Amino acid sequence: MNSFPTIHIRGTGGYLPERVMTNQELSQLVDTSDEWIRSRSGIACRHLAAADECTSDLATHAARQALDDAGITAADLDALVVATTTPDLIFPSTASIVQSRLKVAGFPCWDIQAVCSGFVYALAQLEGMMRAGMFRRVLLIGAETMSGILDWQDRGTCVLFGDGAGAVVLEAGEDDGCGLMRSVLHCDGSYRELLMARHARCQRAPNTKNMPALEIDAAGVSAIQMRGNEVFRVAVNKLGEVVQEVMQVNGVAQQDIDWLIPHQANIRILRATAKKLQLPEERMVVTVDRHANTSAASVPLALNEAARDGRLQRGQLLLLEAFAGGFAWGANMLRWSRD
Ligand code: COA
Repeated sequence: MNSFPTIHIRGTGGYLPERVMTNQELSQLVDTSDEWIRSRSGIACRHLAAADECTSDLATHAARQALDDAGITAADLDALVVATTTPDLIFPSTASIVQSRLKVAGFPCWDIQAVCSGFVYALAQLEGMMRAGMFRRVLLIGAETMSGILDWQDRGTCVLFGDGAGAVVLEAGEDDGCGLMRSVLHCDGSYRELLMARHARCQRAPNTKNMPALEIDAAGVSAIQMRGNEVFRVAVNKLGEVVQEVMQVNGVAQQDIDWLIPHQANIRILRATAKKLQLPEERMVVTVDRHANTSAASVPLALNEAARDGRLQRGQLLLLEAFAGGFAWGANMLRWSRD
């Protein structure tokens, strides 16, 4: 191996909780309709974790599948990272819980928090660390139980989210023309009030004292607060910019892209990005109709689905992107390494 290895995705996995909630069912909880949800967001249903299922449970299922797919065991790993907004605990990290569920120990584990952009951020972070030679094999999981931080009486948010986990095994190897390319990441914290959830302790933090009061539940967490149409406008705009930027830094043209694997927030946002790329919709991987927005899990879940159903072919160029609270957004580019 040369001194700067190339980082490849060697395996993928995914897990969705058994329980499916349809729009019809939701319309019995809040004043909404299947027609409204489908036409405004493209969502038909979402999976919800059972009362006794935590983010680490979903993550462990997806992790096992990705390890099997890569043909390795947890003992072969050098690090484990979980991208999540809904950790089991404030600390220790969900990653450390998953490590112990996989019955291994010793290698470093940490969580990364960039909300719906968590997987895209983590992939960029790990690519840099692995290229620098810190780790050879890493398990990266995006996992969320968004249902736990929703206000089920707020029709503006509860219809949009779901639970799930997706995972990839990353491996440093030879440069064979495939693997991860350069990523671009951005954040603008001045937008933080448009999309957030707060822990009770944060009420005391000086930098949040001017924020509007939030209702804190018995567990000490406020539900997701969102100004949807303002988020929508900025998301379309920033995603349009970031896909151009990631193509530019990698010296790639629009017509070279084989697959767009976007964060699955709203079909109208996905379509706007595909249009910006002049990419036919069939070249975009869509799961939002069945999964809704699973935050940091949505990109690896979509990647796993397209890998398993045979859409992704070795050497094809993939563009991954996400937009999130913060606002934090970014994109990764890679050539698919698997046969
Ligand atoms: N069912 C029925 N009506 C609803 C509704 C629901 N679930 N949620 C909101 N409405 C109503 C609103 O109250 C509003 O009514 P009014 O005109 O009488 O005031 C009307 O529908 C239009 O609301 P608006 O927010 O302008 O709709 P929209 O076309 O912007 O779609 C979203 C709403 C939330 C689907 C859309 O803005 C969106 O997807 N935003 C981005 C969200 C996102 O991606 N978040 C995560 C980023 S990672």
